[in-house]
Amino acid sequence: MELQSLKLLHFRNYEHLDIDFNSKINIIYGKNGVGKTNLVEAIYVLAVTRSFRNVNEKVLIQNGATLSKIEGNVVSDGVYPVNYRIYLEKDGKKVKVNKNRITKLSEYITKIPIVLFSPDDLKFLKDTPSTRRKQLNISISQYSLSYLKNLSIYNKLLKQRNAYLKKLIVNANQSFDYLDILTEKLVSFGMKVYEQRLDFISKINGYLADFYKNITGMDGLEIVYKSDYNGKSLNQVLKCYKNVLKKDLAFGKTNLGVHTDDLQFIVKGSDLKDYGSEGQQKNAIIAYKFSELELFKDILGYFPILILDDLFSELDREKIENIFRILKCDVQTFITTTDLEMFDLNSFGDYKSFEVYDGKVVKESNHERK
Ligand SMILES: Nc1ncnc2c1ncn2[C@@H]1O[C@H](COP(=O)(O)OP(=O)(O)OP(=O)(O)O)[C@@H](O)[C@H]1O
Ligand SMILES: [Mg+2]
Repeated sequence: MELQSLKLLHFRNYEHLDIDFNSKINIIYGKNGVGKTNLVEAIYVLAVTRSFRNVNEKVLIQNGATLSKIEGNVVSDGVYPVNYRIYLEKDGKKVKVNKNRITKLSEYITKIPIVLFSPDDLKFLKDTPSTRRKQLNISISQYSLSYLKNLSIYNKLLKQRNAYLKKLIVNANQSFDYLDILTEKLVSFGMKVYEQRLDFISKINGYLADFYKNITGMDGLEIVYKSDYNGKSLNQVLKCYKNVLKKDLAFGKTNLGVHTDDLQFIVKGSDLKDYGSEGQQKNAIIAYKFSELELFKDILGYFPILILDDLFSELDREKIENIFRILKCDVQTFITTTDLEMFDLNSFGDYKSFEVYDGKVVKESNHERK
């Protein structure tokens, strides 16, 4: 997968931008606050239709403007570029593929697979389970439309079940049969979501330990998937729902299910969340991202785009070198940094660098190995 070009209109601090990328490494550099993250954010929004920053989408539109446009040409099969456009307005967004409007965003977001590291990803380990579930959902949705559908049906059923539980609290004469129907439907879709998550995590685990070892020299990183559904059949899960019904009715909400799932990053029996140093946590996340790249390659037949926003700022030289050794030359990579000197540019082969200043690319240089 290759993003050949990017055009921006009134996106964040870019009034107008029109650039072509290198098919391998692209380095976006400049001082703090000039627009480096904004640029890779635009690429991410083009792919996923929303930002990786936890923000109201209105802030993506340049101050003073009413509409923002992101456009890019992408090659995935090595032949024809496909034109993608996203228009952001204060009251919503529109997407187009080769100038044709796509009304279902869910169909659009599987088209440009992308793997991103951003400094916020450190929250992946430290934050609450919901942050980890969100990351998991984004990862799987990017290659599986059926996952996205199952998850959205599950979430709808969950809302209905919770609303009905609240009704039952107010009026216990209401039908429990209807609750049973909702529970059965919820569990059947929960089971699908569970199985897709389980499959994803077991595939990630097939790569994770090797990447972690290559970066840090340490053995044995694995993700442990914690779910109420672990090791249970559909009927056994239904039984568990019966056992917690009293609690569900007391709280007016569904206590069991895949909406409470969690992931643990374990090294030699210890959870990195509790025992890992900052660096170890960061390296575990990088290993996870590299594993995602490989998994997507297995599923899609090509590598997704990789964005590394501010990845290298707090890593020691050895880890940076290890990471560059792992970076594959057939993965198109976007790196942001304040310090271009940090990299041994000669070791890159093909790359293009872009200096950003105040919402503009003020210098470009392309280096192609003959
Ligand atoms: N909607 C907007 N309209 C205009 N400017 C904006 C908008 N949103 C953000 N900005 C500006 O973008 C700048 C921040 O850009 P960005 O986050 O890309 O910086 P950066 O180069 O990644 O910096 P750092 O090195 O600190 O990570 C700020 O100056 C901010 O005021
Ligand atoms: Mg930044």
